Amino acid sequence: MDGNGRWAKKRLLPRLAGHRAGADALDRVMHYCRDAGVEYLTVYAFSTENWKRSTEEVSGLMRLLSSYIHDKEKELVANGVRFRVIGRRSDLSGKLQAEIHALEEATAAGTFTLVVALSYGGRDEIIRAAARYKGGGEEEFAKCLDTAGIPDPDLLIRTSGELRISNFLLWQAAYAEFYFTDVLWPDFDREEFDKALSAYSKRERRMGARPGEGK
Ligand code: IPE
Ligand code: MG
Repeated sequence: MDGNGRWAKKRLLPRLAGHRAGADALDRVMHYCRDAGVEYLTVYAFSTENWKRSTEEVSGLMRLLSSYIHDKEKELVANGVRFRVIGRRSDLSGKLQAEIHALEEATAAGTFTLVVALSYGGRDEIIRAAARYKGGGEEEFAKCLDTAGIPDPDLLIRTSGELRISNFLLWQAAYAEFYFTDVLWPDFDREEFDKALSAYSKRERRMGARPGEGK
C-alpha cells in the first residue's frame, strides 16, 4: 500500500493523513475484490524496516491500526471478512497483539480473507519458518510460514511507481504475476483495480511449463 506519504505531501497534509486515506482505500479495494470474486487479499501495512521511521509516524501508524481494528469489527463480521495477521507480531505492543487476536477470533468464520502484513519481512518469515521446519519439502515448509493455509498470490500489485518487491511474500510470490502502477495507494480506485485485473487476465501463466504441454 505504497504512496500514502506522497499523497499527503501533495496536499500539504501530515503523513498520517495519508495513512488514514490509505486505510479508506483498503476498505474500497476489499469491496472491489469481493465484487470480482477474489477470495484473498493480502496487504503490506508495516514492514520490519518501517520501525526505522520517526517515532511520531510509527506511533501514529500503530494508533491507526488499533482504531481500525476497534472500529471495523462489526463491519468485517457483517461482511464475512476473515481477518488475519502475518509478520513478527511479538514486535507489536501487548495491547495491539490482544486486539489482533480478538479480531481474528471474532472473524474466523468469514469467507473472504483479509491478510494484513504487520512488522512483516519475507526474509524474517523464512528464517522463523526454517526454525520450525522438520523436513518434507516445499509443501511442508509452506506450512511453517505465517501464511500457512493461505494460497500463494496470483497477482501482486505495487502502487506508487516503485519497481521493487521490498521483502514482501518472498517465498509465496514465486509464481505471482506482477503489476506496477504509478498511482498512489490512496488514489487506487475501481478503474485502477479493473486495469490491474484486466492486465492479469491477459498474462499467460505457465508456471515453468510450456504452453499446451502441461503434465
Ligand atoms: C506506505 O506509504 C504505507 C506504509 C509503509 C505504512 P508510505 O508511507 O511508504 O508513502 P510514501 O512512500 O512516503 O509516499
Ligand atoms: Mg513508501
